[in-house]
Amino acid sequence: MRILSGIQPSGALHLGNYFGMMRPAIELQTKGETFYFIADYHSMTSLFNAEERRKNSLDVALDFLACGLDPKKSVFFRQSDVPEVCELAWLLSTLTPMSMLEKAHSFKDKSAKGIPINHGLFAYPVLMAADILIYDSNLVPVGQDQKQHVEMTRDIAVKFNETYGETFVIPEPQIKVETAKVPGLDGEKMSKSYGNTLEIFGEEKPLRKKVMGIKMDSRTPEEPKPDAEKNLAIELLKLVAPAETAADFENRLRAGGLGYGDLKKALFENYWNHFAEARKKRAELAANLDYVNQILADGATKARTLAQTVLKRARKNCGLE
Ligand code: ADP
Ligand code: TRP
Repeated sequence: MRILSGIQPSGALHLGNYFGMMRPAIELQTKGETFYFIADYHSMTSLFNAEERRKNSLDVALDFLACGLDPKKSVFFRQSDVPEVCELAWLLSTLTPMSMLEKAHSFKDKSAKGIPINHGLFAYPVLMAADILIYDSNLVPVGQDQKQHVEMTRDIAVKFNETYGETFVIPEPQIKVETAKVPGLDGEKMSKSYGNTLEIFGEEKPLRKKVMGIKMDSRTPEEPKPDAEKNLAIELLKLVAPAETAADFENRLRAGGLGYGDLKKALFENYWNHFAEARKKRAELAANLDYVNQILADGATKARTLAQTVLKRARKNCGLE
């Protein structure tokens, strides 16, 4: 089984990215042949600063490796090191109905916010389909918000297979229900674009401040809270603390007597400890960039070899060769 996923180098890694996509992807390393990439072509649809893209791409590499991506088990590479994916995107785009792209949340959400839409952003699901199909991927671990893109990929692949004969493997999305939608500090979906994120790597002081600044209701500490499981700090605690610890805090909150300040303090401590090892690893990697670049170079060679084979199959089947 081949497993593939990508993440855009568009800003600092947060709890939503980590629990929604990165950790499930890392866990799958023992379940099949895993291909993970830094979606730098994709970032061009909404980030227009070259230096920032370079820095963010390196950050994603460090984040992923620090969080447990094992280069001995996974092929890890930059999307743009496999330019074949752009050619495949063109082939696929000719079988992608405009009406399908018009339904894509990715551009509709941005458009609704008044962000000007470029053709790249509109056509983004086609490039994503090429990313997935060019490696004959079977399984695509992503957060809930990417499900629609994987469904479009399936539709496009089926259409190509029907039109030009059996060419592509039809992939399945894999979405972890428990972490499909990690809430942000305001209770909405955690997202860079909503400014409600809790970063995985960063300075202790500002991150502590963010956690302590989470808004709670005005009930007194003594009051029992029968809705304790819906408390945002409890929800986040369940992600970063041992199960017994989270259950203990939830029970204490439900019974009454636990103040929100103490709860948030516990959340911060558990969150900070949860990533202590990854933080240490990341610092080591940052001091050894040659090693990191070598991993990406090796990954690119492996990924490109496979991509060329699949692209050739598609070119032949559609009559380009
Ligand atoms: P953002 O919304 O912050 O821009 P991205 O769209 O770059 O995040 O998402 C990268 C990956 O992380 C995707 O697979 C996405 O589904 C996942 N992801 C992002 N935010 C969350 C969240 N709050 N809960 C679960 N998964 C998430
Ligand atoms: N669109 C994804 C995101 O914004 C990133 C991505 C690009 C991706 N190509 C992919 C994810 C292929 C999975 C498979 O998060």
